[in-house]
Amino acid sequence: MSGPDEGIGGEAPQAIRKLQPGKLVIASHNPGKVREIRALLAPFGIEPVSAAELDLPEPEETGVTFIANAELKALQAADLSGLPALSDDSGLCVEALGNEPGIFSARWAGEAKDFAVAMQRIEDRLSALPPGTGRDAHFICALALAWPDGHVEWFEGRVDGTLVWPPRGDKGFGYDPMFVPLGHSETFGEMNPDTKHAMSHRAKAFAQLVDAIF
Ligand code: IMP
Repeated sequence: MSGPDEGIGGEAPQAIRKLQPGKLVIASHNPGKVREIRALLAPFGIEPVSAAELDLPEPEETGVTFIANAELKALQAADLSGLPALSDDSGLCVEALGNEPGIFSARWAGEAKDFAVAMQRIEDRLSALPPGTGRDAHFICALALAWPDGHVEWFEGRVDGTLVWPPRGDKGFGYDPMFVPLGHSETFGEMNPDTKHAMSHRAKAFAQLVDAIF
């Protein structure tokens, strides 16, 4: 896991920068993500402050990868706030749909951010495929940690599972009610949040971040 300056031009990789205790901007306007990231940061003496609390604008996600989008959100928040900033770009990749919605996961829910609509859209697309088509899917989470001087570190996690219909459970957020992680029978929407946090894509990316920067 590295910042963009690692190893470029044959130079020696740079050491991963450590995060000092203090304020950290959570560069997200998604209340579900902010809640999960706050819970994950709780043990580390960090004072999280959300982008919404600082009235930071929501940048346009122009990247073509999860990492690129995470990086642009973190860099903008660090630049505008003068504080280190952590962002999360994540999404659901449905294998039979060529990994859609992927980086467009939030956008499939439309202006109203209605995930019942987004889940129905996935189900409609899957139902139109030949009988027996697989329902495998995975969530990806890219975390980027940026400092006001432009340094960035990034980390990525993935959890595999399958999609059920109809959606089940009212915990979690986004596509959680239709996603059953491999080896489990409950959807992320039915699970106790601590159980989801022990196995999710975000938890896996976060575990790498914790190893590297604290
Ligand atoms: P973005 O990273 O802000 O572009 O949004 C990612 C979208 O992916 C979210 O709005 C959710 O719809 C979806 N997503 C990401 N992580 C999760 C998760 O843990 N559970 C359910 N949906 C998720």
